[in-house]
Amino acid sequence: MPYGRNSVTAAGAGGLLSSRIPVVPMKLPLRLVAAIAAVLLPLAFAGTSAAEEDHSPARAGRERLLLDAGWRFAFGHPTDPARDYNHATGYFSYVAKAGYGDGPAAPGFDDAAWRLLDLPHDWAVEAPFAEKGSYSHGFKAIGRNFPERCVGWYRKTFTVPAADLGRRLSVEFDGVFRDSVVWVNGFYLGRQPSGYTSFRYDLTDYLNYGGENVIAVRVDATMEEGWYYEGAGIYRHVWLSKTAPLHVAHWGTAVTTEVEDGAATVAARTTVANEGTALATFDLEQRIEDPTGQTVATGTAPGLSLAAGGSAEYPVVLRVAQPRLWSLESPALHRLITTLRSGGAVVDRYETPFGIRTIRFDPNQGFFLNGQRVELKGANVHQDHAGVGVAVPDALQAFRIARLKEIGVNAYRCAHNPPTPQLVDACDRLGMLVLDENRLMGPSPEQLSQLESLIRRDRNHPSVILWSLGNEEWAIEGNLKGARIAATMQAFAKRLDPSRRTTVANSGGWGGISSVIDVIGYNYINQTNPDRQHAEFPQQPGVGTEETTTQGTRGVYFDDRANAHVAPLMKGDSGGNCEIGWTYYAARPFLAGLFYWTGFDFRGEPTPCDWPAASSQFGLLDSCGFPKDSAYYLKSWWLEQPVLHLYPHWNWAGREGQEINVVCYSNHEAVELFLNGASLGRKDMPRNGHLEWKVAYTPGTLEARGFRGGRRVDSTRVETTGVPAQLVLTPDREVVSADGADVAVFTVAARDAQGRLVPTAGNLVKFSVTGGRIIGVGNGDPGCHELDQFNDAIALLPLDDWRGRIAPAGTAKPSAPEGLAPFPRLGNWKTPLPKTGEVYDLACVLTLPAVPAGSTLELFLPSFGTATTLWLNGQELTRDVDTSTGGVALRLEPKQLLAGPNRVQLLVTPFAGRKNPIPELTRLGSLRVTTPAPTAQRSLFNGLAQVIVQAGRTPGTIVLTAESAGLASATQTVTAQSAVQPPAVAAK
Ligand code: GAL
Repeated sequence: MPYGRNSVTAAGAGGLLSSRIPVVPMKLPLRLVAAIAAVLLPLAFAGTSAAEEDHSPARAGRERLLLDAGWRFAFGHPTDPARDYNHATGYFSYVAKAGYGDGPAAPGFDDAAWRLLDLPHDWAVEAPFAEKGSYSHGFKAIGRNFPERCVGWYRKTFTVPAADLGRRLSVEFDGVFRDSVVWVNGFYLGRQPSGYTSFRYDLTDYLNYGGENVIAVRVDATMEEGWYYEGAGIYRHVWLSKTAPLHVAHWGTAVTTEVEDGAATVAARTTVANEGTALATFDLEQRIEDPTGQTVATGTAPGLSLAAGGSAEYPVVLRVAQPRLWSLESPALHRLITTLRSGGAVVDRYETPFGIRTIRFDPNQGFFLNGQRVELKGANVHQDHAGVGVAVPDALQAFRIARLKEIGVNAYRCAHNPPTPQLVDACDRLGMLVLDENRLMGPSPEQLSQLESLIRRDRNHPSVILWSLGNEEWAIEGNLKGARIAATMQAFAKRLDPSRRTTVANSGGWGGISSVIDVIGYNYINQTNPDRQHAEFPQQPGVGTEETTTQGTRGVYFDDRANAHVAPLMKGDSGGNCEIGWTYYAARPFLAGLFYWTGFDFRGEPTPCDWPAASSQFGLLDSCGFPKDSAYYLKSWWLEQPVLHLYPHWNWAGREGQEINVVCYSNHEAVELFLNGASLGRKDMPRNGHLEWKVAYTPGTLEARGFRGGRRVDSTRVETTGVPAQLVLTPDREVVSADGADVAVFTVAARDAQGRLVPTAGNLVKFSVTGGRIIGVGNGDPGCHELDQFNDAIALLPLDDWRGRIAPAGTAKPSAPEGLAPFPRLGNWKTPLPKTGEVYDLACVLTLPAVPAGSTLELFLPSFGTATTLWLNGQELTRDVDTSTGGVALRLEPKQLLAGPNRVQLLVTPFAGRKNPIPELTRLGSLRVTTPAPTAQRSLFNGLAQVIVQAGRTPGTIVLTAESAGLASATQTVTAQSAVQPPAVAAK
């Protein structure tokens, strides 16, 4: 029995054909073209002219709707058109004729068999590991050697209300990795090569108002942009934006603040665009709300006018008496509310969060925030996190910033690309300074447009203190071309944002970029010489854009490089360690501070190891955010709170009597070490230093006692533990929002019978959850090749290579494939059309590979006839099914299919009086094999693992259970409390 017949109407071709603006087929009779024009043209003009007269509330105002839910996804192919749905192979392609997007870009394409998912999505993190995978991308099986996982297609069907006619609608992508091409309703909108730039397309003229619309995105991640893990797919949010024709332009506000004698001058420049067809007159009102929502300043620019199609910038200066300043300790955010009134009605209201603060880089004294010198205690961070890759939920951004702040980091360098906007939002909210970085240096229009989008998007964020134009551009940093390019980009950046300076991270090529750049960035003191540069360019401020951490694997104290485990490198890959870097910068107040390479371990660039290592080891924190020992060194000297930390752990069975180097990081004045109660000596702690003792290993307890003013003020212990006995789950928060997006991050730990963390435990732990879903697991092990995510696996086996004929009326039984000739390729306008009464008689052979046990088999056929009869292996499965309003999905029993070749036969009566749909079909059906997700699990690494659980939309309790053979299991709950759902376009 067919099931779900027409249940896929929303995505099926039949449902769409009736509502979308028809693609004008080739060589249409003139009278038909005229008829189409007669329908469409008045509509188009009616839309725009009505918009000029009508300020009804339904059309005025602004909406920004999340467009993350309910996308269909399938892999295409970078080089094999057949595996790319024959996309762009037609005689007229999408760049030949408007509206000729074909294959999945065509609105009528049947994507019912595709995987349904919500954004953000990173298909790289879902991929297995492979030695042939890219070193930079952490040996994930993606990239050139895996063309079947290079191209991803996404399709989203959504409804636009009829009342939106006359508004301006656009789709905004926060970031897609990479080389994306976007269509709406078959119309090509554009191409964005960057995997990091936020971009948008206007949809207004292409939409079906009061009907269904389809956005299709082809993402090609074959090439890498960086040399680190970058993910693949639409890994950031997508938005549908709606405004009146007269509106504040995209990223159209620029707010700068000055503070004098406790009062602020806020300069608000606002670009307004009139995308209507007539002159618009309007008033522009500015209002500032303080962090409590009180109005603290207002200003108006009345009596403005803009010609049709025009845009202009309007400055308004406002004064705020005694504002709460944005600072690291108290990141107070104000809001600028811009209102446009026209014809007595509000036509736009646009909010710009901003902070009132001053920043300054000084060549001799470093960086100043609100007139106070602030040492930049920074970390470089790439954007991926354990378990989720680059598809980082917003709440996880805040989690990551909180982990950095815990160890005293106050500045975040977005290495080496524009970040997701939600990262900068989190830095604004939580009090973290941002060095906001461009990707590729260059003065071409494309390259400048990437920089422009970064600056326009992020210039109102108080956290952003400096623009980085580039990083270690070896071909240009030390020469004249570099100087020219940097000067051009710097002047360009200044025009967009006169309130901030620019830097480039330099790796030792002098006399080029370094001689023109505003603020010089030093990558590693072992290859740069800040003292010399400062002497030669005394007016140039400087900052350490990269400096070496004490590189190594969390909880590892002896090398095991074959398994990617590295003991702390006292001379890391880029020279030095945390202490060398910090003592250097701490002694040079003319420098603004430094950014360690890196805050978190990130996937890829696994130096100093190679396969099977999959992650870097540079982090102060591992890829989950668990601190390494070196984090405590910085915490000691970066924070005021007392720190007393000892390493290594004291579980060295088999090394009895061997000398072990015991290290203490602390900010106490002196520390005394005891082994099993016997003192090993008290030592004074050098400022910005650490202490060491050589200790012959005996099991038991190492205790450190911290002293200030000669008094014992603190102590800490490291004990030889027993074997793992129990699991313990600890969530980062007790309450999350039931908004379908928020996450709780659980730490999984193995403890011994006395409740002590077992620092060597590697038990495999299985997880189950109710009330939420596990979106990723990790453990910080750079050599771990276990699954990060647990999704149903979907394999789509295309029904290809059809043979067939146009059969006479009355044909009741489909022919055997052997008796049929190859049928003209689908997606081809020359595909023959049956005459009235005739039918398609088609057959193909579907070769079924071994199917994993427990898999579900479904046969999908598109909408292309009023009567479809299907035979499988000589058995009739359906008779005369009408697919006018949608395709067919048929659940098959495993026994109905044979391992190896299967014969599929069809008799189809095409739609009468309608355009032959076969030219639009690039695939005449597929078999979907769905293998259920495996149980979520992860091995502990040195005692710890992490589980990220996302809340659903229903308030209630999230219950996570962890179980491991031989250990007492753990169950932990988190409350998902009711939350305002973000405005969003519904999932279909
Ligand atoms: C720097 C580079 C970083 C990273 C690091 C590794 O040269 O800017 O992206 O590759 O080296 O040591």
